[in-house]
Amino acid sequence: MDAAQAGKLAQKVGAQFHSGDNLEVISRPEVDAVIVSTSEGEHLAPVLAAIKLGKPVLVEKPIALNLADADRIIAAADKAGVSLRVGYSRRYKERYLIAKEQVVQGRVGKIVGAGARVYNSRSQALAMLGRNPHATPVVDALTYYVDLMNWLLAGTPLAEVYARGQKGVLKAAGYDADDVSWAILTYADGTVVNLGVSYALPAKYPALGHAARVEVLGTEGVIILDDDHTDQLMYTEKGIPHVYLPDHTVNMVFLQSGTPGDWALGEFWGPITNETRAWLDHLSMGRPCALATPQEARIALEATLAIEHSIATGRAVTLPLAQ
Ligand SMILES: NC(=O)c1ccc[n+]([C@@H]2O[C@H](COP(=O)([O-])OP(=O)(O)OC[C@H]3O[C@@H](n4cnc5c(N)ncnc54)[C@H](O)[C@@H]3O)[C@@H](O)[C@H]2O)c1
Repeated sequence: MDAAQAGKLAQKVGAQFHSGDNLEVISRPEVDAVIVSTSEGEHLAPVLAAIKLGKPVLVEKPIALNLADADRIIAAADKAGVSLRVGYSRRYKERYLIAKEQVVQGRVGKIVGAGARVYNSRSQALAMLGRNPHATPVVDALTYYVDLMNWLLAGTPLAEVYARGQKGVLKAAGYDADDVSWAILTYADGTVVNLGVSYALPAKYPALGHAARVEVLGTEGVIILDDDHTDQLMYTEKGIPHVYLPDHTVNMVFLQSGTPGDWALGEFWGPITNETRAWLDHLSMGRPCALATPQEARIALEATLAIEHSIATGRAVTLPLAQ
């Protein structure tokens, strides 16, 4: 970890202490809960360290980049009896939370099908792949919508995945990742879900995170969620910073398309705020929270790996995946 960067951040937010050593921070007696939001391939060591010290953990999605690491984390948490949750921030984006409530209230009836697709610019995909070539748009981004569907379907197991992809600019940049991936997921009760992702739109595309559309089809109702943010346009000659990419600006932006949320008047608003507050209320007051369990996160990881496998082999893939 970069100690100088940690120092700068500490000064900015008025932190009581900082260090370039994860373990030193996690071990401090006044630290009683740990959020791991390191890059995708760097979750394992800090999560295991916190579990070993008996401290509850919120780790950002994906729980890991392979099933073996996910299983190590789950086994360690079970053995230590430590609370572990995984941050899939779509669950705490209000439009999805409210959709979940409609499903829970039975207003759409039995879900028989659904669709979701998410678009983003190649600038973010290239940053993700640059950190870890296994953090593909499917494993790292479509995973939110796999988790969302699994959450809405309340534990109905996924039975089969069939997917197709097409390579383009991401491959030209040296990565074994598709520009476009489309998948059909069939659940054990026959529910069919169509999921798609393209994180290869032009570098200055106005989405600064997720531009999405989600549709839920039930026997007694239907939910259509236009989450592209095309209704929140801003253009400025001054340039708008990207939420993740330090040197990236765009002139046209879909406001509120950044996945974690947005700063406004000195406060951070949005899914990550809601999610963090729900987790802290859960820990401190025992309130229920909707954050993914590690088992749910493993299921989402397995589904995304199955999608990649189906694209690579051209065949339908039956779950569970052989390890
Ligand atoms: N929930 C959301 O809305 C959301 C949005 C984006 C990313 N994410 C997830 O959050 C995680 C981080 O994503 P990001 O885009 O911020 O990544 P990033 O790589 O831009 O930032 C991660 C930070 O962790 C630091 N870091 C990396 N390895 C470390 C280590 N071993 N020890 C300590 N610090 C380390 C990096 O220096 C960097 O400051 C990923 O798992 C990603 O998938 C979630």
